[in-house]
Amino acid sequence: MENFEFRNPTKIVFGKDQLEKLPELLQEQNASKIMIAFGGGSIKRTGLYDGIIKAIGDSFEVVEFGGIEPNPEYRTLMKAVELARREDVDFVIAAGGGSVIDGVKFISGAIKYQGDPWDVMEKKEGCEFGEAVPFGTILTLPATGSEVNSGAVVSRKEIHAKRVMGGPQFFPKFSICDPGVVATLPKRQLANGIIDAYVHTLEQYLTLPTDNLLQEREAEAILSTLIEVSDVVNDPANYKLASNFMLCASHALNGNLRCGVPTDWATHMIGHELTAHFGIDHAQTLAIICPRLYEHEFDKKKAKLVQYGQRVFGLTGSDDEIAASAIKRTEEFFHHLGVKTRISDYTESYEGIDQKIMETFIERGWTEMGETKSIFPEDVQEIVQASY
Ligand code: NZQ
Ligand code: ZN
Repeated sequence: MENFEFRNPTKIVFGKDQLEKLPELLQEQNASKIMIAFGGGSIKRTGLYDGIIKAIGDSFEVVEFGGIEPNPEYRTLMKAVELARREDVDFVIAAGGGSVIDGVKFISGAIKYQGDPWDVMEKKEGCEFGEAVPFGTILTLPATGSEVNSGAVVSRKEIHAKRVMGGPQFFPKFSICDPGVVATLPKRQLANGIIDAYVHTLEQYLTLPTDNLLQEREAEAILSTLIEVSDVVNDPANYKLASNFMLCASHALNGNLRCGVPTDWATHMIGHELTAHFGIDHAQTLAIICPRLYEHEFDKKKAKLVQYGQRVFGLTGSDDEIAASAIKRTEEFFHHLGVKTRISDYTESYEGIDQKIMETFIERGWTEMGETKSIFPEDVQEIVQASY
């Protein structure tokens, strides 16, 4: 087993009617002037916004920032940074899905940053976020695990950029996770959420055989449970399905699964480029790239594909048959959720994107990816081309 360090300081408040604990949680943080950040308005339609305002009451000063879009935009987030600086807020609440939570991570780092925060996203030498304004989250969409981790992804449409950031100062102080929010999610977001959580687990599991027997079983448990509760897309008000879905998504990316094992993440890195160029939803990009990447890396990943096929899908046969069927069953699961797995299902103008993505990866120095650092830019090009 590989050595590892693990720390996750986020306080999770999970279950029904937990919003009433918000004042107590804010007091624990010594918050006084709070910015509530949210997305395009779903929290107003679902009644969550009213619930938050009621829970907060008159005990805290509040400013609002709405309009954080899916794949949060740098330009929008900088408006929130200006507001927060002007109002001198000392705590931020992110009420939303991964985009709002990621947006708030960026905002909380940028508020106190002296230079141009985009330099941090570009990882320019010497440019790093220091202290962050503390924040908590009220999760409305199980998918990204952003409510329990310290990473974030920020987009800048005009230059087709989608960049990752993170650091220990970006763990939420608390996250209120009420599975009741799942009931109002549209089918597209439910399917996206399941696939994102599923692929997060695969990125940390479908690599090489390891000696970390427990971690492998934990990953298999998340994959199997996600399949078991996937009918939540047709029955989102079912609390048993919704609560297990929410728990799976959090456990998939709270940092535990990567302890003592190699990780891949190439599907995500390539997928982010498809969102940056075509605006395809994050999880849809994963459904497109993941099966083609596994086919491309078939020999390197074969042993783990066999284990996955046997344990998660109960497959039998020769190793080659099981490994190939495991990829097929994964793609069929995405289809079953109503998510298509080809770039051409989402856009007509994809010719040449393989070359562009390859060149971008070379420019950024992302030349050795995957668990064995053996996915090179020409492999990325082949994987993208195979995804057309
Ligand atoms: O904006 P509003 O009006 O709130 O509507 C949202 C949005 O349109 C809607 N929604 C959210 N909760 C709802 C709801 N509609 C009805 N009822 C509810 N309860 O859903 C739409 C999508 O929301 P979004 O936050 O964009 O989705 P998701 O949670 O999938 O987040 C995607 C973003 O997270 C990043 C992705 O790249 C993408 O930018 N990721 C973040 C990660 C992390 N921080 O660890 C890891 C992931 O791999 C991912 O990269
Ligand atoms: Zn993801």
